[in-house]
Amino acid sequence: MYKILEAEKLANNIYRMVVEAPRVARRCLPGQFIIAKADEKGERIPLTICDYDREAGTITIVFMPIGVSTMKFAALKAGDCFQDFVGPLGQPSDLCREEALDEIRGKKILFVAGGVGTAPVYPQVKWLHEHGITADAIIGAKTKDLVILEDQFREVCNLYVTTDDGSYGRSGMVTKVIEDLVDKEGKTYDHCVAIGPMIMMKFCCLTTKKYGIPTVVSMNPIMVDGTGMCGACRILVGGEVKFACVDGPEFDGHLVDFDGAMKRQTLYKTEEGRRLLAYQEGETHHGGCGNCGGDS
Ligand code: NAD
Ligand code: FES
Repeated sequence: MYKILEAEKLANNIYRMVVEAPRVARRCLPGQFIIAKADEKGERIPLTICDYDREAGTITIVFMPIGVSTMKFAALKAGDCFQDFVGPLGQPSDLCREEALDEIRGKKILFVAGGVGTAPVYPQVKWLHEHGITADAIIGAKTKDLVILEDQFREVCNLYVTTDDGSYGRSGMVTKVIEDLVDKEGKTYDHCVAIGPMIMMKFCCLTTKKYGIPTVVSMNPIMVDGTGMCGACRILVGGEVKFACVDGPEFDGHLVDFDGAMKRQTLYKTEEGRRLLAYQEGETHHGGCGNCGGDS
């Protein structure tokens, strides 16, 4: 059992929890995710790690309740426990590698965080700051009340906040801020990381492509079981089939087939859609999971 040490509501329908999970905290790196399960019969929910404290042995998660399982998470209080809390899973962010520090130090890096996707951006920005690299970051939210982790970000980067309705910070979507920074404020960037809703990542990639800024995105939103077995997170990256939970979650955003991924995400939600995908694609799980005898 994994004890919840802190539980708070960050904003309307966005929750933050600090969970005692020493083995995960010892080994995790920015970009990786955990799978949490509220109780014996609960569904496995993959969530990107928002923060970790190796000494305290804790992992911070931030989530938005959108189904029964995440609603059960939201009902948990400090002192309650998760039945399962498995990780770290997935590949760490390519930016946060000690061996690449010299190369990364020379780069101007822009993070773009949208809504709840602000949480998985935080450990990357913090890691870079701890290693002497101060990046620029944009946080976008629909409205003032939905801006999360602002103070934490301000401590570790140059922050630009924007709201769709202009109620706080700049006005407009994150893509407008990217354009303003580059076109009006003369900023240049060598690398961008964009994490948030699929539609945001798609449009961020279209924007950065026109400026020639290589961009990494996190395909966490299309994951279901997070184990390589369900096939839900199958995507095309540069024409190659990848599985977000095993090969990612981060990929070169300029190569991701967002339209295909969003269409697949919608189809996967219904039994009929899953049957259609199985008919069109065959058994789509990743294989190599040890349970299926698959080899790719
Ligand atoms: P949201 O809909 O409030 O959007 C957040 C921001 O994204 C907006 O304020 C805007 O600046 C930008 N945005 C949205 N649509 C855009 C568009 N068409 N063009 C340009 N910018 C756009 O976000 P939310 O409701 O907090 O997000 C929930 C979603 O975030 C869920 O779908 C969840 O799957 C996803 N999410 C993704 C990750 C990840 O790793 N990629 C992690 C957590 C959550
Ligand atoms: Fe099920 Fe990746 S989330 S295969």
